[in-house]
Amino acid sequence: MTGRLIVVSNRVAPVDESKGTAGGLAIGMLAALRAAGGLWFGWSGRISTGAAATSPSVVEHAGITYATMDLTPQDCAGYYNGHANRTLWPLFHYRLHLTDYNRKDCATYLNVNRWFAEKLAPLLRPTDLVWVNDYHLIPLGEAMRARRLGNRIGFFLHTPFPSPPVLTALPNHAQMMRQLMAYDVIGFQTAVDLRAFRDYMRFEADGTIHTDGRVTAYGRTALAAAFPIGIDTEDFAALAAETGDSPKTQRLRTSLLHRDLIIGVDRLDYSKGLVERFCAYERFLELFQKRRSHVVLMQIAPSSRAEVPEYQEIRRTLERMAGHINGRFAEPEWVPIRYLNRSFTRRVLAGYYRTARIGLVTPLRDGMNLVAKEYVAAQNPEDPGMLVLSQFAGAAQELDSALIVNPFDTEGVAEAIEQALSMPLEERKERWEAMMDQLRRQDITAWRESFIATVAAAPYRAEPSWPKKKPLARSAF
Ligand code: UDP
Ligand code: G6P
Repeated sequence: MTGRLIVVSNRVAPVDESKGTAGGLAIGMLAALRAAGGLWFGWSGRISTGAAATSPSVVEHAGITYATMDLTPQDCAGYYNGHANRTLWPLFHYRLHLTDYNRKDCATYLNVNRWFAEKLAPLLRPTDLVWVNDYHLIPLGEAMRARRLGNRIGFFLHTPFPSPPVLTALPNHAQMMRQLMAYDVIGFQTAVDLRAFRDYMRFEADGTIHTDGRVTAYGRTALAAAFPIGIDTEDFAALAAETGDSPKTQRLRTSLLHRDLIIGVDRLDYSKGLVERFCAYERFLELFQKRRSHVVLMQIAPSSRAEVPEYQEIRRTLERMAGHINGRFAEPEWVPIRYLNRSFTRRVLAGYYRTARIGLVTPLRDGMNLVAKEYVAAQNPEDPGMLVLSQFAGAAQELDSALIVNPFDTEGVAEAIEQALSMPLEERKERWEAMMDQLRRQDITAWRESFIATVAAAPYRAEPSWPKKKPLARSAF
């Protein structure tokens, strides 16, 4: 790669890492950018008080230049809380009944993308490679092309990509898919997501899938491929070894009084299957009575997208459920669930993961789920804990030596918890080694390098010439 790397995402990792979590995208991109250096453009996370900002605020930190924009309250409502998180997020996670589409928010979403393109354009040099991330920014590539930017631009989707019968519920699905085709490369987390994308292009857009992975549709050609995101495996394992005996971890261990710890770490999001997880844990306590008083579920769930009503609702539900389960089973000296509605730094999490006998990761749908990978990397090789993993997390495609469960099967998850608790050391080691091999092979560096190399190999469009817009087939609104 000859030019600079420019990463664009709605969420940009906080410069001060002690500020806690920003989700998997920011964690992954930060690890990727740390090694490669470059510019990171996106939302500052702040709401502007006056008019929209005219230029990004620029900060340099540890080899990365952060250029971030504040959003106006109206833009934040329509773009972030609206079309991105009340339409695309639930739809992409197969939750049609939570998907709320309206044209006004969709128009704001498009406008914010155009505005991002306008503010990004002056920062770019022609040879820069641009890496656009996630569902907030699907139209950005097309908006950049409209400004005659000929850079190589890759798009990576961190969430699942829904299969056509779900996707076509989106009134403007054809417009969105045409926008995606403005990128040189379109990356997905897994082969399952890639298949859904190709199925749409083939059967809904009359497109062509070429044998080399390129797709032609709407008069445009782009390469579509799967690039499963990894973690910084060796670093995370080292961090967990270091913090496994830190004062914070020791305090947690002491408080357990030799009970087995089950850990869950998720943004408070309905896609994470937390309601179903609490039901399964309750069922586990009913079915395996001998485990009562000997096991603790610690669920860490920092609140997320707190202005979106569906997120407020799940928070209330979980508080009720934790209260119900604790009220039903607790003893004077034991509480079955520790429910922590706040975030922890990755340093602290690493030590907690290492202490836990089980990592319980049961999303109803998840693009990848980095927590699953971090839990595995954090284990003590001499006495590893066991990962119980939903078949609907992207990570399950790689970590098939975990105990794979269907999160909708309450008894199945309850039994998997019991199986993990009673699993002999030899079997735990064998499964853990198989998972670690995979995590070492496909780590964050491999992910970054393969995505960048693929985008860098795309033809350079110094003078982008776009075919005239064809009238949209069938399903445009
Ligand atoms: N995380 C964190 N502190 C917390 C909770 C989560 O640093 O209190 C991190 C976690 O270690 C992981 C990321 O946030 O790296 C979550 O990524 P994941 O892919 O599991 O889920 P997402 O939030 O992106 O849906
Ligand atoms: C998921 C999404 C990311 C998002 C993160 C945190 O990982 O794929 O795009 O940044 O959740 O959500 P938030 O809305 O706080 O950025």
